[in-house]
Amino acid sequence: MGESLRDRFQMEGFRVDWFRRAGDAERALRQNSYVLLLSDIRLPDEPGDRLFQRCRKAQDFTLPPVIFITGYGSIATAVQLLKAGAADYVVKPFDLDELVSKVEELTRAGVRAAGGEEPSESGVLGISPVMRRVEQQLARLARADAGVLLVGGSGVGKELAARYFHRAGGGSRPFVAVNCGALPESLLEAELFGHERGAFTGAQRSRRGVFEQADGGVLFLDEIGDMPLSMQVRLLRAIQEKQVTRLGSEQSIPLDFTLVSATHRDLRALVAAGSFREDLYYRINTVQIRIPPLRERPEDILWFARNLLEARAEEGSVPRRLSHAAERALLKQDWPGNVRELEHCLQRALLLSDTPVLEPEDLFDELTTPPNAVGEEALADYLRAREYEHIRQALARHGGQITATARSLGISRKNLWEKMRKLAIGNRDSD
Ligand SMILES: Nc1ncnc2c1ncn2[C@@H]1O[C@H](COP(=O)(O)OP(=O)(O)OP(=O)(O)O)[C@@H](O)[C@H]1O
Ligand SMILES: [Mg+2]
Repeated sequence: MGESLRDRFQMEGFRVDWFRRAGDAERALRQNSYVLLLSDIRLPDEPGDRLFQRCRKAQDFTLPPVIFITGYGSIATAVQLLKAGAADYVVKPFDLDELVSKVEELTRAGVRAAGGEEPSESGVLGISPVMRRVEQQLARLARADAGVLLVGGSGVGKELAARYFHRAGGGSRPFVAVNCGALPESLLEAELFGHERGAFTGAQRSRRGVFEQADGGVLFLDEIGDMPLSMQVRLLRAIQEKQVTRLGSEQSIPLDFTLVSATHRDLRALVAAGSFREDLYYRINTVQIRIPPLRERPEDILWFARNLLEARAEEGSVPRRLSHAAERALLKQDWPGNVRELEHCLQRALLLSDTPVLEPEDLFDELTTPPNAVGEEALADYLRAREYEHIRQALARHGGQITATARSLGISRKNLWEKMRKLAIGNRDSD
Protein backbone atom coordinates (compact mmCIF):
# COMPACT_ATOMS: atom_id res chain seq x y z
CA MET A 1 0.00 0.00 0.00
CA GLY A 2 2.85 2.36 0.82
CA GLU A 3 4.01 2.26 -2.74
CA SER A 4 0.65 3.09 -4.28
CA LEU A 5 0.09 5.89 -1.77
CA ARG A 6 3.46 7.33 -2.57
CA ASP A 7 2.84 7.17 -6.30
CA ARG A 8 -0.56 8.74 -6.02
CA PHE A 9 0.56 11.62 -3.82
CA GLN A 10 3.55 12.27 -6.00
CA MET A 11 1.20 12.43 -8.92
CA GLU A 12 -0.86 14.96 -6.97
CA GLY A 13 2.24 17.11 -6.71
CA PHE A 14 3.38 16.29 -3.17
CA ARG A 15 6.89 15.42 -2.20
CA VAL A 16 6.69 12.10 -0.41
CA ASP A 17 9.06 10.40 1.97
CA TRP A 18 8.03 6.84 2.68
CA PHE A 19 9.32 4.92 5.69
CA ARG A 20 8.45 1.40 6.63
CA ARG A 21 9.45 1.63 10.25
CA ALA A 22 8.32 4.01 12.99
CA GLY A 23 11.92 4.57 14.05
CA ASP A 24 12.98 5.72 10.58
CA ALA A 25 9.96 7.97 10.31
CA GLU A 26 10.71 9.56 13.65
CA ARG A 27 14.26 10.31 12.63
CA ALA A 28 13.04 11.97 9.45
CA LEU A 29 10.39 13.94 11.35
CA ARG A 30 13.11 15.36 13.53
CA GLN A 31 15.24 16.36 10.61
CA ASN A 32 12.78 17.66 8.09
CA SER A 33 9.73 19.76 8.19
CA TYR A 34 6.70 18.00 6.75
CA VAL A 35 3.26 19.38 6.10
CA LEU A 36 1.58 16.11 6.99
CA LEU A 37 2.19 12.65 8.38
CA LEU A 38 0.18 9.73 7.10
CA SER A 39 0.69 6.68 9.26
CA ASP A 40 -0.66 3.19 9.65
CA ILE A 41 -1.38 2.17 13.21
CA ARG A 42 0.25 -1.17 12.65
CA LEU A 43 3.93 -0.84 11.93
CA PRO A 44 6.62 -3.49 12.15
CA ASP A 45 8.67 -2.02 14.98
CA GLU A 46 6.22 -0.02 17.06
CA PRO A 47 2.53 0.88 16.83
CA GLY A 48 1.86 4.15 14.98
CA ASP A 49 -0.10 5.52 17.91
CA ARG A 50 2.87 5.12 20.22
CA LEU A 51 5.04 6.99 17.74
CA PHE A 52 2.41 9.71 17.64
CA GLN A 53 2.11 10.07 21.40
CA ARG A 54 5.85 10.29 21.80
CA CYS A 55 6.43 12.77 18.98
CA ARG A 56 3.60 14.95 20.15
CA LYS A 57 5.42 15.49 23.42
CA ALA A 58 8.83 16.00 21.84
CA GLN A 59 10.36 19.34 22.66
CA ASP A 60 12.76 19.57 19.78
CA PHE A 61 10.43 19.43 16.81
CA THR A 62 6.81 19.99 15.90
CA LEU A 63 4.72 17.15 14.64
CA PRO A 64 2.70 18.09 11.54
CA PRO A 65 -0.98 17.10 11.32
CA VAL A 66 -1.34 13.31 11.39
CA ILE A 67 -3.81 11.12 9.52
CA PHE A 68 -3.99 7.52 10.67
CA ILE A 69 -4.82 4.50 8.59
CA THR A 70 -6.57 1.82 10.59
CA GLY A 71 -8.24 -1.51 10.10
CA TYR A 72 -11.73 -2.15 11.46
CA GLY A 73 -10.16 -3.74 14.50
CA SER A 74 -8.52 -0.56 15.65
CA ILE A 75 -11.21 2.06 15.14
CA ALA A 76 -11.41 2.53 18.89
CA THR A 77 -7.73 3.40 18.94
CA ALA A 78 -8.22 5.81 16.05
CA VAL A 79 -10.99 7.60 17.90
CA GLN A 80 -8.78 7.94 20.94
CA LEU A 81 -6.08 9.34 18.74
CA LEU A 82 -8.45 11.98 17.42
CA LYS A 83 -9.10 13.00 20.99
CA ALA A 84 -5.37 13.13 21.57
CA GLY A 85 -4.91 15.53 18.70
CA ALA A 86 -4.60 13.49 15.52
CA ALA A 87 -6.08 15.32 12.55
CA ASP A 88 -8.11 12.47 11.03
CA TYR A 89 -8.20 8.78 10.24
CA VAL A 90 -9.29 6.53 7.41
CA VAL A 91 -10.41 2.93 7.72
CA LYS A 92 -9.07 0.24 5.42
CA PRO A 93 -10.13 -0.37 2.72
CA PHE A 94 -10.47 3.31 1.96
CA ASP A 95 -11.18 5.37 -1.09
CA LEU A 96 -7.94 6.92 -2.31
CA ASP A 97 -9.69 9.97 -3.74
CA GLU A 98 -11.24 10.66 -0.40
CA LEU A 99 -7.86 10.40 1.31
CA VAL A 100 -6.33 12.74 -1.23
CA SER A 101 -8.96 15.37 -0.58
CA LYS A 102 -8.53 15.03 3.18
CA VAL A 103 -4.81 15.51 2.78
CA GLU A 104 -5.32 18.47 0.50
CA GLU A 105 -7.68 20.08 2.92
CA LEU A 106 -5.32 19.61 5.84
CA THR A 107 -2.22 20.79 4.07
CA ARG A 108 -4.04 23.84 2.77
CA ALA A 109 -5.22 24.57 6.29
CA GLY A 110 -1.67 24.19 7.55
CA VAL A 111 -0.45 26.54 4.90
CA ARG A 112 -3.11 29.08 5.76
CA ALA A 113 -2.18 28.89 9.41
CA ALA A 114 1.38 29.64 8.47
CA GLY A 115 0.31 32.88 6.85
CA GLY A 116 -0.94 32.04 3.40
CA GLU A 117 2.43 30.96 2.17
CA GLU A 118 3.44 27.92 0.30
CA PRO A 119 5.60 25.67 2.41
CA SER A 120 9.14 26.81 1.84
CA GLU A 121 12.42 25.03 2.01
CA SER A 122 12.68 24.49 5.73
CA GLY A 123 15.21 23.36 8.27
CA VAL A 124 18.09 25.16 6.55
CA LEU A 125 18.88 27.76 9.16
CA GLY A 126 17.70 25.58 12.01
CA ILE A 127 14.90 23.35 13.19
CA SER A 128 13.88 25.36 16.23
CA PRO A 129 10.43 26.96 15.95
CA VAL A 130 11.98 30.41 16.03
CA MET A 131 14.37 29.69 13.15
CA ARG A 132 11.59 28.12 11.13
CA ARG A 133 9.65 31.32 11.61
CA VAL A 134 12.70 33.29 10.51
CA GLU A 135 12.91 31.14 7.38
CA GLN A 136 9.24 31.69 6.63
CA GLN A 137 9.53 35.42 7.06
CA LEU A 138 12.62 35.60 4.90
CA ALA A 139 10.96 33.57 2.16
CA ARG A 140 7.91 35.79 2.25
CA LEU A 141 9.98 38.95 2.06
CA ALA A 142 12.12 37.53 -0.70
CA ARG A 143 9.11 36.72 -2.83
CA ALA A 144 7.75 40.20 -2.22
CA ASP A 145 11.17 41.59 -3.13
CA ALA A 146 11.22 43.58 0.09
CA GLY A 147 14.47 44.44 1.78
CA VAL A 148 15.31 43.41 5.29
CA LEU A 149 17.64 44.26 8.16
CA LEU A 150 19.10 41.26 9.96
CA VAL A 151 20.19 41.82 13.51
CA GLY A 152 21.86 39.40 15.86
CA GLY A 153 25.04 38.69 17.74
CA SER A 154 28.26 37.54 16.17
CA GLY A 155 28.19 34.15 14.53
CA VAL A 156 24.42 33.62 14.76
CA GLY A 157 24.16 33.11 11.02
CA LYS A 158 23.21 36.49 9.63
CA GLU A 159 25.12 35.98 6.41
CA LEU A 160 23.64 32.54 5.99
CA ALA A 161 20.19 34.06 6.48
CA ALA A 162 20.97 36.62 3.77
CA ARG A 163 21.94 33.81 1.41
CA TYR A 164 18.77 31.98 2.29
CA PHE A 165 16.79 35.11 1.44
CA HIS A 166 18.56 35.22 -1.89
CA ARG A 167 17.79 31.59 -2.71
CA ALA A 168 14.18 31.97 -1.65
CA GLY A 169 13.78 34.79 -4.14
CA GLY A 170 15.15 32.71 -6.99
CA GLY A 171 18.82 31.94 -6.63
CA SER A 172 19.86 32.63 -10.18
CA ARG A 173 20.01 36.37 -9.59
CA PRO A 174 23.28 37.83 -8.42
CA PHE A 175 24.12 37.89 -4.73
CA VAL A 176 26.81 40.37 -3.79
CA ALA A 177 28.07 40.71 -0.25
CA VAL A 178 30.24 43.46 1.09
CA ASN A 179 31.49 43.93 4.61
CA CYS A 180 31.14 47.62 5.37
CA GLY A 181 33.39 47.39 8.40
CA ALA A 182 36.30 45.58 6.79
CA LEU A 183 37.46 48.16 4.28
CA PRO A 184 39.17 51.47 4.99
CA GLU A 185 37.02 54.42 4.04
CA SER A 186 39.10 55.29 1.00
CA LEU A 187 38.62 51.87 -0.56
CA LEU A 188 35.05 51.40 0.56
CA GLU A 189 33.76 54.21 -1.59
CA ALA A 190 35.22 52.76 -4.78
CA GLU A 191 34.15 49.29 -3.72
CA LEU A 192 30.55 50.38 -3.30
CA PHE A 193 30.12 52.77 -6.18
CA GLY A 194 32.80 51.76 -8.64
CA HIS A 195 35.13 54.11 -10.41
CA GLU A 196 36.19 55.30 -13.81
CA ARG A 197 39.66 54.95 -15.17
CA GLY A 198 41.93 57.58 -13.67
CA ALA A 199 39.45 58.53 -10.95
CA PHE A 200 42.27 58.27 -8.43
CA THR A 201 45.89 57.26 -8.35
CA GLY A 202 46.10 53.60 -9.24
CA ALA A 203 42.72 53.41 -10.94
CA GLN A 204 44.10 52.07 -14.19
CA ARG A 205 40.84 50.64 -15.35
CA SER A 206 37.24 51.49 -14.71
CA ARG A 207 35.45 49.15 -12.38
CA ARG A 208 31.89 48.41 -11.38
CA GLY A 209 31.04 48.79 -7.71
CA VAL A 210 29.05 46.27 -5.71
CA PHE A 211 25.81 48.15 -6.32
CA GLU A 212 26.23 47.65 -10.03
CA GLN A 213 27.28 44.06 -9.59
CA ALA A 214 24.13 43.40 -7.61
CA ASP A 215 21.89 44.84 -10.32
CA GLY A 216 18.87 42.59 -10.71
CA GLY A 217 19.71 40.69 -7.53
CA VAL A 218 20.47 41.00 -3.87
CA LEU A 219 22.99 43.35 -2.31
CA PHE A 220 24.08 42.28 1.14
CA LEU A 221 25.59 45.07 3.21
CA ASP A 222 27.13 43.29 6.16
CA GLU A 223 28.07 45.15 9.33
CA ILE A 224 26.25 48.21 8.13
CA GLY A 225 26.57 49.67 11.62
CA ASP A 226 30.30 49.99 10.99
CA MET A 227 29.82 52.09 7.89
CA PRO A 228 31.74 55.35 8.28
CA LEU A 229 29.43 58.28 8.83
CA SER A 230 30.86 60.15 5.85
CA MET A 231 29.79 57.32 3.54
CA GLN A 232 26.28 57.05 4.85
CA VAL A 233 24.87 59.99 2.89
CA ARG A 234 26.00 58.52 -0.40
CA LEU A 235 24.76 55.13 0.63
CA LEU A 236 21.34 56.47 1.51
CA ARG A 237 21.09 58.27 -1.79
CA ALA A 238 22.01 55.14 -3.73
CA ILE A 239 19.43 53.11 -1.86
CA GLN A 240 16.71 55.69 -2.15
CA GLU A 241 17.20 56.69 -5.72
CA LYS A 242 18.28 53.28 -6.89
CA GLN A 243 21.11 54.69 -8.89
CA VAL A 244 24.82 55.22 -8.45
CA THR A 245 27.49 57.40 -9.89
CA ARG A 246 30.95 55.94 -10.24
CA LEU A 247 33.87 57.84 -8.79
CA GLY A 248 35.26 60.11 -11.45
CA SER A 249 32.06 60.07 -13.48
CA GLU A 250 29.09 62.37 -13.86
CA GLN A 251 26.76 59.85 -15.25
CA SER A 252 24.31 58.11 -12.94
CA ILE A 253 23.47 54.48 -13.54
CA PRO A 254 19.95 53.29 -12.73
CA LEU A 255 19.84 50.02 -10.82
CA ASP A 256 17.44 47.47 -9.53
CA PHE A 257 18.44 45.56 -6.43
CA THR A 258 17.03 44.28 -3.18
CA LEU A 259 18.92 45.37 -0.12
CA VAL A 260 19.65 43.06 2.77
CA SER A 261 21.68 44.59 5.55
CA ALA A 262 23.01 43.11 8.74
CA THR A 263 24.58 44.27 11.93
CA HIS A 264 25.53 42.94 15.32
CA ARG A 265 25.32 46.46 16.72
CA ASP A 266 22.45 48.26 18.32
CA LEU A 267 21.70 50.74 15.53
CA ARG A 268 19.29 52.74 17.64
CA ALA A 269 22.04 53.36 20.14
CA LEU A 270 24.38 54.34 17.31
CA VAL A 271 21.78 56.80 16.06
CA ALA A 272 21.41 58.22 19.56
CA ALA A 273 25.19 58.53 19.82
CA GLY A 274 25.34 60.32 16.49
CA SER A 275 27.44 57.75 14.65
CA PHE A 276 24.66 56.42 12.46
CA ARG A 277 22.35 58.59 10.40
CA GLU A 278 18.77 58.50 11.49
CA ASP A 279 17.39 58.75 7.95
CA LEU A 280 19.51 55.81 6.82
CA TYR A 281 18.42 53.88 9.89
CA TYR A 282 14.76 54.28 8.99
CA ARG A 283 15.43 53.51 5.37
CA ILE A 284 17.07 50.15 5.97
CA ASN A 285 14.98 49.22 8.97
CA THR A 286 11.58 48.87 7.32
CA VAL A 287 11.57 45.20 8.22
CA GLN A 288 13.87 43.87 10.86
CA ILE A 289 14.47 40.21 11.58
CA ARG A 290 16.32 39.16 14.68
CA ILE A 291 18.40 36.01 14.54
CA PRO A 292 18.40 34.83 18.14
CA PRO A 293 21.51 33.60 19.92
CA LEU A 294 22.08 29.87 19.91
CA ARG A 295 21.36 29.47 23.61
CA GLU A 296 17.80 30.66 22.99
CA ARG A 297 17.25 27.80 20.54
CA PRO A 298 18.80 24.68 22.03
CA GLU A 299 17.08 22.48 19.45
CA ASP A 300 19.47 23.84 16.86
CA ILE A 301 22.59 22.92 18.82
CA LEU A 302 22.36 19.16 18.38
CA TRP A 303 20.82 19.53 14.96
CA PHE A 304 23.78 21.56 13.83
CA ALA A 305 26.31 19.27 15.52
CA ARG A 306 24.86 16.15 13.93
CA ASN A 307 24.70 17.80 10.52
CA LEU A 308 28.33 18.76 10.77
CA LEU A 309 29.43 15.28 11.78
CA GLU A 310 27.34 13.76 9.03
CA ALA A 311 28.80 16.10 6.45
CA ARG A 312 32.29 15.13 7.55
CA ALA A 313 31.47 11.45 7.21
CA GLU A 314 30.08 12.09 3.74
CA GLU A 315 33.31 13.80 2.80
CA GLY A 316 34.99 10.51 3.53
CA SER A 317 36.30 10.81 7.08
CA VAL A 318 35.65 8.07 9.59
CA PRO A 319 32.08 8.48 10.87
CA ARG A 320 31.97 9.99 14.32
CA ARG A 321 29.25 10.81 16.70
CA LEU A 322 28.61 12.42 20.04
CA SER A 323 28.15 10.46 23.23
CA HIS A 324 25.08 11.32 25.27
CA ALA A 325 27.29 13.03 27.79
CA ALA A 326 28.82 15.11 25.00
CA GLU A 327 25.39 16.11 23.75
CA ARG A 328 24.38 17.14 27.22
CA ALA A 329 27.58 19.11 27.57
CA LEU A 330 26.90 20.96 24.30
CA LEU A 331 23.43 21.84 25.50
CA LYS A 332 24.77 23.21 28.77
CA GLN A 333 27.11 25.71 27.12
CA ASP A 334 26.23 29.36 26.69
CA TRP A 335 27.77 29.76 23.21
CA PRO A 336 28.51 33.47 23.28
CA GLY A 337 30.05 33.03 19.81
CA ASN A 338 26.92 31.21 18.65
CA VAL A 339 26.96 28.89 15.64
CA ARG A 340 30.46 29.86 14.66
CA GLU A 341 31.77 28.97 18.10
CA LEU A 342 29.94 25.66 18.04
CA GLU A 343 31.35 24.96 14.60
CA HIS A 344 34.90 25.67 15.80
CA CYS A 345 34.42 23.61 18.91
CA LEU A 346 33.41 20.58 16.84
CA GLN A 347 36.10 21.07 14.24
CA ARG A 348 38.72 21.27 16.95
CA ALA A 349 37.43 18.11 18.61
CA LEU A 350 37.52 16.27 15.28
CA LEU A 351 41.09 17.33 14.69
CA LEU A 352 42.46 16.66 18.13
CA SER A 353 40.84 13.35 18.91
CA ASP A 354 40.42 10.24 16.88
CA THR A 355 37.84 8.33 18.86
CA PRO A 356 34.69 7.39 16.96
CA VAL A 357 32.53 8.68 19.82
CA LEU A 358 33.24 12.20 21.00
CA GLU A 359 33.13 12.77 24.73
CA PRO A 360 32.72 16.03 26.66
CA GLU A 361 36.45 16.18 27.30
CA ASP A 362 37.11 15.98 23.56
CA LEU A 363 34.95 19.05 23.08
CA PHE A 364 35.95 21.17 26.01
CA ASP A 365 39.51 21.68 27.11
CA GLU A 366 38.76 22.64 30.65
CA LEU A 367 37.22 19.26 31.35
CA THR A 368 40.51 17.47 30.78
CA THR A 369 42.42 19.40 33.45
CA PRO A 370 42.07 17.61 36.75
CA PRO A 371 39.64 19.38 39.04
CA ASN A 372 41.48 21.55 41.48
CA ALA A 373 41.45 20.12 44.96
CA VAL A 374 42.76 22.99 47.01
CA GLY A 375 40.74 25.61 48.76
CA GLU A 376 37.42 25.51 50.48
CA GLU A 377 35.87 22.79 48.38
CA ALA A 378 33.45 20.50 50.12
CA LEU A 379 34.89 17.07 50.78
CA ALA A 380 32.19 15.42 48.68
CA ASP A 381 33.09 17.55 45.68
CA TYR A 382 36.74 16.79 46.11
CA LEU A 383 36.15 13.06 46.34
CA ARG A 384 33.86 13.14 43.39
CA ALA A 385 36.39 15.00 41.30
CA ARG A 386 39.16 12.56 42.24
CA GLU A 387 36.89 9.63 41.51
CA TYR A 388 36.03 11.09 38.15
CA GLU A 389 39.67 11.50 37.19
CA HIS A 390 40.69 8.12 38.53
CA ILE A 391 37.99 6.26 36.64
CA ARG A 392 38.68 8.13 33.43
CA GLN A 393 42.33 7.30 33.58
CA ALA A 394 41.65 3.67 34.36
CA LEU A 395 39.24 3.50 31.43
CA ALA A 396 41.83 5.03 29.15
CA ARG A 397 44.43 2.48 30.28
CA HIS A 398 42.08 -0.34 29.40
CA GLY A 399 40.97 1.03 26.08
CA GLY A 400 37.53 1.83 27.44
CA GLN A 401 36.74 -1.78 28.31
CA ILE A 402 34.41 -1.85 31.26
CA THR A 403 35.11 -5.34 32.50
CA ALA A 404 38.89 -4.94 32.54
CA THR A 405 38.66 -1.49 34.07
CA ALA A 406 36.30 -2.66 36.79
CA ARG A 407 38.64 -5.51 37.63
CA SER A 408 41.62 -3.20 37.89
CA LEU A 409 39.69 -0.87 40.17
CA GLY A 410 38.52 -3.75 42.32
CA ILE A 411 34.84 -3.08 41.84
CA SER A 412 32.10 -4.91 40.00
CA ARG A 413 31.22 -4.13 36.42
CA LYS A 414 27.79 -2.98 37.49
CA ASN A 415 29.23 -0.74 40.16
CA LEU A 416 31.55 0.85 37.62
CA TRP A 417 28.69 1.44 35.22
CA GLU A 418 26.69 3.19 37.89
CA LYS A 419 29.59 5.39 38.86
CA MET A 420 30.21 6.28 35.24
CA ARG A 421 26.60 7.21 34.77
CA LYS A 422 26.57 9.28 37.94
CA LEU A 423 29.76 11.09 36.96
CA ALA A 424 28.69 11.47 33.33
CA ILE A 425 31.67 9.57 32.01
CA GLY A 426 31.02 8.17 28.57
CA ASN A 427 32.09 4.75 27.53
CA ARG A 428 33.85 4.61 24.22
CA ASP A 429 33.37 1.05 23.23
CA SER A 430 29.70 0.64 23.92
CA ASP A 431 28.14 4.03 24.49
N1 LIG B 1 22.08 27.29 10.19
C1 LIG B 1 23.36 27.09 9.96
N2 LIG B 1 23.78 25.96 9.36
C2 LIG B 1 25.06 25.76 9.11
N3 LIG B 1 26.02 26.62 9.43
C3 LIG B 1 25.68 27.74 10.03
C4 LIG B 1 24.33 28.05 10.33
N4 LIG B 1 24.29 29.26 10.91
C5 LIG B 1 25.56 29.68 10.98
N5 LIG B 1 26.40 28.78 10.45
C6 LIG B 1 27.85 28.87 10.36
O1 LIG B 1 28.29 29.66 11.43
C7 LIG B 1 29.24 30.60 10.99
C8 LIG B 1 28.73 31.99 11.23
O2 LIG B 1 27.65 32.24 10.37
P1 LIG B 1 27.46 33.65 9.65
O3 LIG B 1 28.74 34.12 9.08
O4 LIG B 1 26.29 33.55 8.76
O5 LIG B 1 27.09 34.48 10.95
P2 LIG B 1 27.08 36.05 11.14
O6 LIG B 1 25.91 36.32 12.01
O7 LIG B 1 27.14 36.73 9.82
O8 LIG B 1 28.40 36.26 11.97
P3 LIG B 1 29.23 37.62 12.19
O9 LIG B 1 28.48 38.41 13.18
O10 LIG B 1 30.51 37.10 12.75
O11 LIG B 1 29.35 38.28 10.88
C9 LIG B 1 29.51 30.29 9.53
O12 LIG B 1 30.64 29.47 9.44
C10 LIG B 1 28.28 29.56 9.09
O13 LIG B 1 28.56 28.64 8.07
MG1 LIG C 1 28.54 38.10 9.14
